[in-house]
Amino acid sequence: MDSAWLNNNRIREQLKNDVFTLLPNRIAENDVVKKQLYTEIVEWLKLPVTFDKENASIVLIEENNKYDNDESFDVQEKNGQIIIIGNNSKALLYGFYSLIRMKLTGKLKTGIHTPSQSLRMINHWDQTDGSIERGYSGASIFFGNFNKLDNPDKGNFNVKLINGDIFRHDTKRLVYYARMLASVGINSISINNVNVRGQGIELITNKYLNGVQEIADIFRKFGIKLFLSINWAAPKLIGGLETSNPLDDKVKKFWRDICKNIYSYIPDFGGFVVKADSEGEPGPYQYGCDHAQGANMLADAIKPFDGLIIWRAFVYNSHQDWRNRKNDRAKAAFENFASLDGKFSSNVILQMKFGPIDFQTAEPLQPLFGKLRNTNQMMEFEITAEYLGHQIDINYVLPQWCKMINFNTEYEDLPDPKAGAILRETAVDSNNTGIAAVGNVGMSEHWTGNPLAQSNLYGYGRLCWDNQLSAEEILKEWIIQMFPSIKKESKDKIYSIMITSNKTYVDYCAPLGVGFMVVPHYHYGPSVNGYEYDRWGTYHFADRNGVGVDRTIKTGSGFVSMYSKKLANKFENPDTTPMDVMLFFHHLNYDFILPNNKTLIQTIYDLHFRGYENVKKYVKQWNCLKHDIEESIYDTVQVCLNEQLKNALEWRDQVNTYFYRMSGVKDSLGRKIYS
Ligand code: GCU
Repeated sequence: MDSAWLNNNRIREQLKNDVFTLLPNRIAENDVVKKQLYTEIVEWLKLPVTFDKENASIVLIEENNKYDNDESFDVQEKNGQIIIIGNNSKALLYGFYSLIRMKLTGKLKTGIHTPSQSLRMINHWDQTDGSIERGYSGASIFFGNFNKLDNPDKGNFNVKLINGDIFRHDTKRLVYYARMLASVGINSISINNVNVRGQGIELITNKYLNGVQEIADIFRKFGIKLFLSINWAAPKLIGGLETSNPLDDKVKKFWRDICKNIYSYIPDFGGFVVKADSEGEPGPYQYGCDHAQGANMLADAIKPFDGLIIWRAFVYNSHQDWRNRKNDRAKAAFENFASLDGKFSSNVILQMKFGPIDFQTAEPLQPLFGKLRNTNQMMEFEITAEYLGHQIDINYVLPQWCKMINFNTEYEDLPDPKAGAILRETAVDSNNTGIAAVGNVGMSEHWTGNPLAQSNLYGYGRLCWDNQLSAEEILKEWIIQMFPSIKKESKDKIYSIMITSNKTYVDYCAPLGVGFMVVPHYHYGPSVNGYEYDRWGTYHFADRNGVGVDRTIKTGSGFVSMYSKKLANKFENPDTTPMDVMLFFHHLNYDFILPNNKTLIQTIYDLHFRGYENVKKYVKQWNCLKHDIEESIYDTVQVCLNEQLKNALEWRDQVNTYFYRMSGVKDSLGRKIYS
């Protein structure tokens, strides 16, 4: 469990000559964060705290209302002391963890540190039986109080709960996790899957609120608010009502009562995350209502308690038809929500996946960012590697996320048209905006299956806090903290594997943004035609002449028109479309010459050969680290890499063979492509 970036022994070693002081010395009874901060220093790190400011080397000072932002902290260096000032104890907690990072990385950054985004959230897709939807790190850390004879951590969920208690109650692990999150600035979590079924629906009731409260109490100490995902149809499913119609008074009362009751357990409860009218889940459309009506009804119920409704824009009709090329799943969020701009209450947040489809290896930005001008929004990522290698394949995804946050929407009337900045610029209440991501931890030994997948959790938090950080800087930070005592050459090797890993993964998967050539439902490994005639609307349209989805205005689905004029002009034309999303926007012939001056078919072959060769190199590089890295981490990554090599080979050969059979064009370099 300690084999994460926050290892108390390593940190203590680094800070062994330091003495802390907390000012003012007195800790108010209800200031649980300050108490925790004290505990972190004295019990977790076992470092001294003094009342005498002069004798301290690190001074943490709370000065109410000094800074505009309550989460900001100011780092100063004066007369050999490091001084950290913040409005409240939460800001100091952030300052404390930053200081640890700065000490470990050897870079003291003085000045005021302010988060780029207000809400920095992790959505857990954990289920009350202890399993995790799209989880690749063993069982849930929250749920599943199992009979010990069974082994749910290895994925066997066919087990009996003890006395019907659905909670795991592993306080030690939860404290450690809360610490990991706070150390990178995460301030909100939802703990249950967005597809809320079975017992999950009842988490909002007395039956389970004691257990939820126990979790909320732990996370509160680390400045993290707890949210729950709800089932839209709860009034009908558990409330004894005949309807869940948002306009019905009994339904409104049901939700008001639910909220009142939750707040009696958890006074700072964050609110609800809602997936409605999507992938078979119930929603307001069933009652002829739109999503603003649906969300606002809940917003009214929770408003008296300052709660939020996080309403997901991942709403689409799963009954697509491959015969109809105008019908395009990429347009779904826009078609459902663009016209509702300005209609949502100020405590509703529209949470949108970064791209228009579904967390693929390469997608353009969701066009609603920049289009909506009067709606609180959150951008959603997936840390759990559903489409990105299941935390078996090494895939440090920060390059993709940085790209999305810095994606230029090219709206000329916005002060800063980049997606990350737009979140604040177009909000009704800028406190109610931010970034969310599906979490990737579980009970696995190193938290995330492949230990290197921890870098994505770390990096996600760091990027949410500071949108200007680069993927390179974040990775360097993580490696130093995770592997402080290994040789410089070893650190460099890990860095060179990880920094190229996202590109490598993208290289051997579905080419140039076309997406979804994965094994259906499972989403690991290739299946070129797995989704081709499927009702989920994820096609590549390959034929003997070419491949790709025509989403242009002139000849395609028209999706391109949903962007700003300037961006639409770019995406309309293959000559100005970025290579990584070329086949997302265009259906091109195999002999089309791409911006790299090669034909499309040759590019597909080259990418796939290159992707596999890179994984082969990773295996060799990793083998050199054997004697320098903690054994269990070394071994776990090695096992993963061997799997990845098989996966990359399968991708390379299936994709290359498929396109060779389709096109009949040989590889210009004469490499082996199976026929
Ligand atoms: C993807 C994923 C589902 C998930 C859905 C969502 O489609 O495969 O498991 O429920 O996203 O984001 O709601």
